[in-house]
Amino acid sequence: MPDSRPHDADLTQPLPALTADGTLAIPSAALDVYTMAAGSTEHTALSVVGDYRLQSNLGEGAMGTVYRAERQSNGRVVALKVLSKAVATRPGFVQRFHREVRAMGRLTHPNIVRYLAAGEDGGRIYLAMELLEGGTVAARVRAAGRLSVTQAMAVGVATGRALEYAHQNQFVHRDVKPDNLLLTSQGVVKLADLGLAKATDDTDVSLTGTGTGVGTPEYAPVEQIRDAKRADTRSDLFALGGVLYFALTGVPPFPATNFLELLKLKENGAYPLASTKNREVPTVVDKMLGKLLARLPEHRYQSATEFLQDAEWSGFTADRIE
Ligand SMILES: Nc1ncnc2c1ncn2[C@@H]1O[C@H](COP(=O)(O)OP(=O)(O)OP(=O)(O)O)[C@@H](O)[C@H]1O
Ligand SMILES: [Mg+2]
Repeated sequence: MPDSRPHDADLTQPLPALTADGTLAIPSAALDVYTMAAGSTEHTALSVVGDYRLQSNLGEGAMGTVYRAERQSNGRVVALKVLSKAVATRPGFVQRFHREVRAMGRLTHPNIVRYLAAGEDGGRIYLAMELLEGGTVAARVRAAGRLSVTQAMAVGVATGRALEYAHQNQFVHRDVKPDNLLLTSQGVVKLADLGLAKATDDTDVSLTGTGTGVGTPEYAPVEQIRDAKRADTRSDLFALGGVLYFALTGVPPFPATNFLELLKLKENGAYPLASTKNREVPTVVDKMLGKLLARLPEHRYQSATEFLQDAEWSGFTADRIE
């Protein structure tokens, strides 16, 4: 399929309404600048959302599109997630979204992507976040094949610290995965999208899912795949284990080509030791993975703190990839 995403040039094109009178206040109807129908997907090119001028497209996810954008009133450059209409119009979503984002806005941690603002413009819901320039852990692993043990453990430690703080503040992430781990230009690892899986609660994680939706089950434990409401802090630790395994080996611990196969593999619970895929993986890391990826929550680490203690005792304290 050809790449049908709007290109940067499209995004920087000014709105006719803007050039006509030079104002930034645009009628909501003018937000839909034009619609590019290409292939089977329809994409709407935007140039301004709320107070934000879009600069380029950073990526697409299940909930919408993320742009690099400048806040016009203060010049701050941010990552702006603009939710797709399909997500935004789900019953009860807007209320849940604003509730989660408000709560999230209060969290500050060096390993958690900061939420800056959220709003609505012409029916479009957006979320402004701290912009991270270093790409995702997923892209980093794919480019390199796998990370070194030190680098992978830095991803694990950063994620563990982010989860320890989130869990202490009554947040369960529910969608910890390599795409939701971002890097600063200095290589510091930060967890993104905290609270968003919860905002999509009732509608997204289901047994009929294709595995591509929010709360994509590739990294989720079986109890969460079966019933999203049963996800607790230990479900996030299982996903952390999957991320760590992927970083160490280049493949997820339960590689499946379809949803039922994934469910079967996770019900069974067995996976090849990471050290069989990467001989540099020490036994102590295999053991930590065993306590993250246990099928039953009660056999896992019971808190992120327990994992972090083991990591620290084994000499892994960095939260950044050199
Ligand atoms: N704060 C950010 N700074 C820089 N880039 C970001 C930021 N947030 C997201 N991105 C980029 O946008 C892409 C899409 O993010 P998005 O969260 O929409 O999708 P995803 O994480 O791949 O999947 P999901 O929708 O399940 O979260 C990411 O892969 C990343 O490349
Ligand atoms: Mg994401």
